[in-house]
Amino acid sequence: MFIQAGLITLALLLPTAASPVTEGLGSRVPFEKRDGVTTKEGWFDHKRAVEMVVRDRNKHRQNLINLERNVGLSAFNDGAKILPLANYSQMAPPDKRQAEKLTDESNDQYWAGPMSIGTPGQSFLVDFDTGSADLWVPSVNCTSSYCSKKDKYNSASSSSGAHKGGKFSIQYGDGSTVSGPVYTDTVSVAGVTVKNQYFSPVTTISASFGSEADDGILGLAFPAISNLQKSPFFNTAKSQGAVKNGVFGFKLAKSGSELYLGGTDSSLYTGSIEYHSVTGSGFWQISGASIQVGSQTVESGFQTIIDSGTTIIYGPPNAVSTFYKAIPGAQLYDSQSGFYSFPCSSTPSNVAFSWGGNAWTISAANFNLGRVSATQCIGAIAGQDLGLGSNTWLLGDSFMKNVYTAFSFDSNSVGFAALK
Ligand SMILES: *[C@@H]1O[C@H](CO)[C@@H](O)[C@H](O)[C@H]1NC(C)=O
Ligand SMILES: *[C@@H]1O[C@H](CO)[C@@H](O)[C@H](O)[C@H]1NC(C)=O
Repeated sequence: MFIQAGLITLALLLPTAASPVTEGLGSRVPFEKRDGVTTKEGWFDHKRAVEMVVRDRNKHRQNLINLERNVGLSAFNDGAKILPLANYSQMAPPDKRQAEKLTDESNDQYWAGPMSIGTPGQSFLVDFDTGSADLWVPSVNCTSSYCSKKDKYNSASSSSGAHKGGKFSIQYGDGSTVSGPVYTDTVSVAGVTVKNQYFSPVTTISASFGSEADDGILGLAFPAISNLQKSPFFNTAKSQGAVKNGVFGFKLAKSGSELYLGGTDSSLYTGSIEYHSVTGSGFWQISGASIQVGSQTVESGFQTIIDSGTTIIYGPPNAVSTFYKAIPGAQLYDSQSGFYSFPCSSTPSNVAFSWGGNAWTISAANFNLGRVSATQCIGAIAGQDLGLGSNTWLLGDSFMKNVYTAFSFDSNSVGFAALK
């Protein structure tokens, strides 16, 4: 009897589970342009770029700490290790270079979109980050000046918020951490609403976030790197049925940038999506990558992590040195941060990554981070050990701006398609 009842239930559920994947039923999140490392006048903002390198290193250091605690060292890539905290004062560029900076206003290399927390909804602008797995926004209890211009979550104004045990803490190494208590509340992004989502209303934020227009971060990576050790927003949305498909798609561009939740937005790309299986458990990581300059393959057989919360592209220092040997006139610009310069008059437009299918080219505009002199410009690929593995590259927005990127929990894969 019991077995039969079970079979009937299963049969009733099957048609739904097996129904075809339909696109166009998801939700669009528009992005706003945010500051990057290129000034309006086209100069490379060296100080800002080094701040970014320090933050990227410490962000992934924290991811590895979380991964070791949640899964164990066996989940690490070859050669991956938890590095000491990166320290801005030890990497800061000399003053003469900072003097090249003409203005604080920067160009569009950073992205953020709207979302809300609570009942009624309290609005925030967050960085949708495929390179981390937690949601945090400033709390009303953050009294630091870094929080002063930001939207703040107030649990007393939400009928659905609940205080939970534990503490959220990420060390950024610039003198402070991002930390706060743990709460659950209703979270809504572009009409995708989930209940009892774990997040942290943070009471301290680090200096590098204070200057940014966004309030916090919404992590879209795997639960294995969650600091809160809880289901991240999109995974909750899938398990609560708030999205039909466990897929989201990114378009990052000068205009019309968008995150699409619950599928891919086929109005933004042409042809089919070239998918590659995720390796490992914490990151949106795909293997078998190569980088080429024109018809020359410079490095191959490496791992890549696709991280929308990072502006540039990082590779192991030796591999990146080999890469720049293929760029005529390129030279090391800053050995600490790993940036290279090249002649602006011949900015490469033929640098491409491939995972065995199409070669996905980085446009000259996306490769060039700005000038440092009348003739030299900085490239978007930097040589830096982030601790993620000796054969692992981290591909940020400088790569993602050239393609439509799909992230699928359903098929555990990352895919690329040509932008329309
Ligand atoms: C802020 O502090 C007050 C008073 O201690 C507390 O009741 C509240 O839960 C705190 N957190 C938030 C996010 O409002
Ligand atoms: C960073 O380095 C400076 C100079 O070596 C040191 O004084 C400071 O304490 C360090 N800060 C952190 C957060 O490690």
